[in-house]
Amino acid sequence: MAIKSSLVLVCFFLIIAAMAAPVAKAQDESLDLIRIQGAVYCTANGKIGVNGSATPVFPNAQVQLQFGIGNVVSSSTTNASGRFSIVLDRPQMPLSTLLSSLNIIVATPLSSCNTSLPFAGGLISTLQFVRSTVLSCAPVNISNLIPVGFQRFP
Ligand SMILES: *[C@@H]1O[C@H](CO)[C@@H](O)[C@H](O)[C@H]1NC(C)=O
Ligand SMILES: *[C@@H]1O[C@H](CO)[C@@H](O)[C@H](O)[C@H]1NC(C)=O
Ligand SMILES: *[C@@H]1O[C@H](CO)[C@@H](O)[C@H](O)[C@H]1NC(C)=O
Ligand SMILES: *[C@@H]1O[C@H](CO)[C@@H](O)[C@H](O)[C@H]1NC(C)=O
Repeated sequence: MAIKSSLVLVCFFLIIAAMAAPVAKAQDESLDLIRIQGAVYCTANGKIGVNGSATPVFPNAQVQLQFGIGNVVSSSTTNASGRFSIVLDRPQMPLSTLLSSLNIIVATPLSSCNTSLPFAGGLISTLQFVRSTVLSCAPVNISNLIPVGFQRFP
């Protein structure tokens, strides 16, 4: 249900975007949509712990997509399951540049999910490509990315 409604939302979003800003697309190196999805856990390094799926998650955490460090491109908030999703429409850069330049940064202090965890600093991860999917509602190629793995930052 959640997946279905989010895809409908993506389709709707694309139609609006296409009407608002027709973009001349180059034949190659042209990406339609980038979707970044991941989970943040309430642990010292934001990763899933030794207890596997019993590891507490980090809900209501602000997750920022940054170009390099300091340039916020987009942001999202983790849901009750600690999951976030960020969609970028027609990034004007090749995938290789995006993968080498983008970082996911958790801006909310870890102490807000567990008072024993530090207030200072945040979590950072680079991104990796997992697969492309093509929407059934439109000829749109989505490149799915996930965080490689969080670590403490700075
Ligand atoms: C893993 O689970 C055990 C049993 O519930 C608990 O005692 C332990 O503190 C947990 N470890 C971590 C790192 O959460
Ligand atoms: C959080 O988001 C994920 C992925 O979109 C979804 O599968 C999950 O059901 C959501 N959890 C809640 C509690 O909304
Ligand atoms: C909070 O973090 C501490 C230190 O990592 C850990 O020992 C404890 O189990 C955590 N508490 C909860 C409720 O996850
Ligand atoms: C979708 O885009 C990816 C990345 O550019 C590419 O490798 C893949 O061949 C494309 N798939 C389709 C069906 O166009």
